[in-house]
Amino acid sequence: MTLHYIGLIADYPEKERKVIEINGKSIGIFRLQGKLYAVLNYCPHQGAPLCEGFVRPWLNSPAPGEFGYEREGEILRCPWHQWEFDIKTGCMVIDGKVRTKTYDVTVETFNVSEEDGKVYIKM
Ligand code: FES
Repeated sequence: MTLHYIGLIADYPEKERKVIEINGKSIGIFRLQGKLYAVLNYCPHQGAPLCEGFVRPWLNSPAPGEFGYEREGEILRCPWHQWEFDIKTGCMVIDGKVRTKTYDVTVETFNVSEEDGKVYIKM
């Protein structure tokens, strides 16, 4: 595993995504609640550019006629056939068995402010 520098944390605004290329792989970087997550931009179903899909909350229904949203911005919906994946784990939300690859992201903030932290992806 190698750490690859991918910019400053300020380059990744909250609730936004950025698709980058590293070693020939397309990877989506998402910032949720201040933390960065990296997801391979490839849907395990039929290979769609997964990270171009809608980002949405999870819709739950605790009882008939009751609906609510939770996990705001954590669900990534594939643009081709709408399979949905958890951005934090890469697992498909319906059963958790199918998953897309995720990568660890670290932020180095030694002697700098949080927003000036250097971001690295491990792959
Ligand atoms: S290619 Fe993603 S759901 Fe089919």
